[in-house]
Order: sequence, then structure tokens, then C-alpha cells
Amino acid sequence: MIRVLFVCLGNICRSPLAEAIFVNKVNAAKLQTRFKCDSAGTSDFHIGELPDDRTIKCASKYNLPLKHRARQVNRTDFRDFEYILAMDENNLRSLNNLKVRYGFADKEIHLMRDFVTETQGMPVPDPYYGGDEGFEEIYHILDGAIDSFLAQIKETHQLYV
Ligand code: 4NP
Repeated sequence: MIRVLFVCLGNICRSPLAEAIFVNKVNAAKLQTRFKCDSAGTSDFHIGELPDDRTIKCASKYNLPLKHRARQVNRTDFRDFEYILAMDENNLRSLNNLKVRYGFADKEIHLMRDFVTETQGMPVPDPYYGGDEGFEEIYHILDGAIDSFLAQIKETHQLYV
């Protein structure tokens, strides 16, 4: 089982949308038995909440089921998830601090957009303080980044359908 965790700050905008896009692609490729996927936030701001209304609206526009409640990253995530994908440098910094504190200093954390050569080091921008157009933008960013990520892990883990 390949375990993938998407991480942002609040776990109500970017990472639950990333999770929904990823699950949809995995299902379309009939690879659902090979993956476990979840999302989490580095902050405790929205623990227990449903995704932001704008996330829900965007997901429904693209027919993506969303059934997530926000949770905060915890110690066992570093043990349980093979791939931990941060949306931006702030999330990456938080995760890199946490992993040391929790005794997983060697664990490699990835930036979501690093799987597309041309966008390495770039963030999935935080849409929280903007309007609906920011959610449309992150949907397209995530869709492309996740295609590349999935292509790469299919190669790495020799998953052929
Ligand atoms: P997310 O967006 O990290 O993509 O879920 C945010 C959600 C909430 C806040 C910031 C970003 N906040 O400051 O409450």
C-alpha cells in the first residue's frame, strides 16, 4: 500500500482539494487498492471542520466527492505516510521542524509542485484570503501537479494497468 498525505496550513482549502483530485485519478486508473490517501493541516485553526465553502463549490464543479474533516498533522503521520506533500514553503518548514521533533529527521518531505520540472520550488498559493478565482487557479495547479506526481509514483512503484 502506497500512502500519500497532502498537507497545507488549515486543511480546509488546498490539501482536501488535492486529496479529492488524487483519489479521483487513482479511481479512474483502477489503482484504488494500491493507495491510501489523506490530508492534514500544520495548524490547529480548523480542526474538525468541513472544507471551506469555496473548496466545496470548486470540488462540486469538477464532480469531486469531498468527505474530509480538518485535522492537524501528528507524529504518526511521519511514520505512516510514505509520501508527504506540502503545498508551500511555510508548510514545508513546519513539517521539517515537526519531523525532527518527532524523531523522523531523515524523512523526506516534498513540495507539491516539485513533481513538475518547470514549477519546482513554486507554491500552490494560499487561496484563503482571496475570492473564488483563487480556488479555480489552485484546482488547475493541483490537477497538473498531481498528474505528474502520479505518473512518477506509477513509474517508481511499477504500477501498470
Ligand atoms: P489552506 O487555506 O491552508 O489551503 O486550508 C487556509 C485555511 C485557513 C487559513 C489559512 C489558509 N487560516 O488562516 O485560517
